[in-house]
Amino acid sequence: MHADIERVLIPREKIQHRVRELAEQITHDHMTKNGEGEVTIVPILTGAMIFACDLMRHIPMAMKIGLMTVSSYPGTATTSQGVTINYKKVGDLTGRHVILVDDILDSGSTIRAVVPMLRDMGAATVRVCVLLRKDRPEATQTPADYVGFDIPDEFVVGYGLDYDDYYRNLPDVVTLKREVYAKS
Ligand code: IMP
Ligand code: MG
Repeated sequence: MHADIERVLIPREKIQHRVRELAEQITHDHMTKNGEGEVTIVPILTGAMIFACDLMRHIPMAMKIGLMTVSSYPGTATTSQGVTINYKKVGDLTGRHVILVDDILDSGSTIRAVVPMLRDMGAATVRVCVLLRKDRPEATQTPADYVGFDIPDEFVVGYGLDYDDYYRNLPDVVTLKREVYAKS
């Protein structure tokens, strides 16, 4: 696995530091003056799993978790293929303050499909939190409330992000050697 890494784009310490900053911002924006408030965190599986786990442990508020699966890069594809959404485990969002969490904003088609859906499900507010945003117009023009890092328009893996479902457990965000893609 480590032999496939080309370069480390964002090291783990930097990620952890930024995750805490994002959590503080989210807490500040959702907590009432008397220290109350409730949120529902909706991580988009599987990519946002690791990010959301770290993030929510730094948000000291009453919280529910709703799960959603969106697939847009089936198997070894590295460009978007349109989205398939499964929201059976998202729970009742009526009147809830929802924080949609995703690993990366790329074509924006995931966020653009999911946000209106969450609003239709009765959420009081929907805010979007992504760890990474690629430097391409489709990504930067998609509204996002909390962005961890702006990165070049390159394919990255690690900290939840995959290539063919591998590399999610790498603690850093990295790029892969060209020959890794050539194999499949
Ligand atoms: P979008 O819908 O095109 O914005 O892309 C969102 C999803 O595509 C993300 O949640 C990822 O699962 C996947 N994706 C986009 N870019 C990358 C990448 O560079 N590496 C791994 N997965 C990616
Ligand atoms: Mg993926």
